Amino acid sequence: MSERTLTIFERGAPGRRAFACPALDVPAVKPSDVLPRDLLRAREPLLPEVSEPEIVRHYVRLSKRNFDLDSGFYPLGSCTMKHNPRLHERVAALPGHARLHPLQDPERAQGALELMWRLERALAELAGLAHVSLQPSAGSQGELAGALLTRAYHAHRGEQRHKVLIPDTAHGTNPATVAMAGLQTVTVRSNSEGGVDIADLRAKADADVACLMLTNPNTLGLFDANIAEIASIVHGAGAILYYDGANLNAVMGISRPGDMGFDIVHFNLHKTFTQPHGGGGPGAGPIAVSERIEPYLMIPRVVRREDGSFDLSYDAPESIGRVRGFQGNYGTFVRAYAYIRSLGAAGLKDVSETAVLNANYLLARLARDGVAQYLPRAYGELCMHELVLSGAPLKRDLKIRTLDLAKRLLDFGFHPPTVYFPLLVEEALMLEPTETETKETLDAFADALTAILREAAEDPEIARGAPYTTPVRRLDEVAAAKQPVVREAL
Ligand SMILES: Cc1ncc(COP(=O)(O)O)c(C=O)c1O
Repeated sequence: MSERTLTIFERGAPGRRAFACPALDVPAVKPSDVLPRDLLRAREPLLPEVSEPEIVRHYVRLSKRNFDLDSGFYPLGSCTMKHNPRLHERVAALPGHARLHPLQDPERAQGALELMWRLERALAELAGLAHVSLQPSAGSQGELAGALLTRAYHAHRGEQRHKVLIPDTAHGTNPATVAMAGLQTVTVRSNSEGGVDIADLRAKADADVACLMLTNPNTLGLFDANIAEIASIVHGAGAILYYDGANLNAVMGISRPGDMGFDIVHFNLHKTFTQPHGGGGPGAGPIAVSERIEPYLMIPRVVRREDGSFDLSYDAPESIGRVRGFQGNYGTFVRAYAYIRSLGAAGLKDVSETAVLNANYLLARLARDGVAQYLPRAYGELCMHELVLSGAPLKRDLKIRTLDLAKRLLDFGFHPPTVYFPLLVEEALMLEPTETETKETLDAFADALTAILREAAEDPEIARGAPYTTPVRRLDEVAAAKQPVVREAL
């Protein structure tokens, strides 16, 4: 284990500053002169006292201790770690965007409202559903909004439906948000092809079901060819269809949830539409809905008046209200809009085709290189935007776990793929190369994986002890997740 990095509080010296203020030329005001007593702090906040070079070096040093997309291939399945074009950063940093106050009067934020309105229209077109709210700040918050909309829709019709059907391949946020909305999850089994088990769905689609939450292509990277039958079973039971569109990377300009019979879809702007993500935000999880769900959509809504100007409208008496303050993470809207406009309709379709091609190229290369002996495909011959392998033979024959393999990849300069998800695949390894990677990168990754397996066949201990070249070695990931120490005791 390398030496502990000092925290920012352990650096600097009393009185040291990173800036020099001009002398005060207005009367000084003490907080106690203007604030009510109960709002005053008991003591001054403890802040680091550091020079600017100390701050810069501290955070640059920290950033170098992590693995990032700007320095290497990051095939983290289901997370769509694609390159974030720098153009978007430039546009988002324009003062008119970056300095816009969330409480700005709509009359003086016409450009921002127009951008939001246009982004809504573009997302509506991609989803095949006419009405959009940009408000939710994460895919999971979009799901929560969708679950609340589902509840409102049924309640308005006088129906108390409390079950939500969720396939066993679903992302963990699906059941979590359903529970947060006060609804109950019912798991639907997958069939031998990795799609929804139609017989199980039919048996569970009863009069208590509010909706089916489906990801298509699902987290196995497979498009469910039975989607028309699935839609007809769910609609036949009086329930609605919710589409987890966190990852639209395989289907943009090719298929639309609205055309498949879905009433609600959420997007992850921070995945498909490029945003720096993975550090916890900011993100955006807009949702698009059909006509019958529209009355319940969140407020305020961005509207275009007859004279072509824009406003925020609160006039929706059946709306579920707000799911967050202000309008959402505006910077993510700017980046997503820049992405959509710079690519255009043909470019977005090309993104999807290339993402699918890259994933299938990797799948084929790994099969060709004999990787399949230890890491066979979990389901199907071909995949969509991501591929899922099973490390079950690796564990059985070499006593190496998928986790060991993932850690060893770090020594070869690659971020590990997603491991142990989807849950129904034993020792799952899930790779999502995305469209922004070159053939050379995919080849180098396949070569590394092949080399690691060859090395493991000779000496399994090497993989079990990996990584060796990173600032920290094997971490206790369960403790890190369950007992995080986010701040040194002062
Ligand atoms: C399939 C799927 N659904 C939902 C989500 C949740 O999105 P978020 O992390 O923005 O809450 C993710 C996130 O990775 C996902 O992959």
